[in-house]
Amino acid sequence: MRVFFALGLNESVNLAARKALADYKNQLSGEGRAVPDANLHLTLAFLGDVPEAVLPALCEEANAIRLSSFSLTLSQLAIWSGPNIACATVATPPAMLCDLAHRLSQLAAWPAQRDSHAFTPHITLRRGVKTVQGLDGPALPPLTFTCQRFGLYASPSHQATHGQRDSEGRALYQCLHAFDLTSRN
Ligand code: 2AM
Repeated sequence: MRVFFALGLNESVNLAARKALADYKNQLSGEGRAVPDANLHLTLAFLGDVPEAVLPALCEEANAIRLSSFSLTLSQLAIWSGPNIACATVATPPAMLCDLAHRLSQLAAWPAQRDSHAFTPHITLRRGVKTVQGLDGPALPPLTFTCQRFGLYASPSHQATHGQRDSEGRALYQCLHAFDLTSRN
């Protein structure tokens, strides 16, 4: 099963910011295709294909992580020519976010796939965007999210015929397990 840890950004405190982000994404036009609203997330660690038998040990380790909730602000729209995506980026990533991503990439049960890049927090809004000129839309308004939990998600492979799809046939990620970050209070 292809899995990744991510911030789902769907806590009740984030509903307005999440809607604003989805509305912004849906205003973009030009090259490529918008990701489904339901798939908006910030990847913390991409684990790749993990045997289902490993998932309980992964969840146990993730559950043992004790980090406080934190806020993050999306501030810029970026076009990344390697993966051909338009994404919202975080100009000043909070230390807690980087710490969480680092820990989740090094779980003993299944370390994350090594990436040639350092962790660069982003939320993919549109795929198949090859050039800055190919995208039309307004500037991204600054949007702040309060991150109180993260999740382990399953991503259907391109060939998969099973799994949930939206009305346009786009595969939807499935949250297998959610983990709470500790409250500061
Ligand atoms: P993204 O975070 O840039 O959108 C599920 O495939 C999620 O894991 C996607 O959101 C995807 O990109 C992220 N991801 C990170 N590294 C990946 C990789 N090597 N292959 C596929 N997806 C990856």
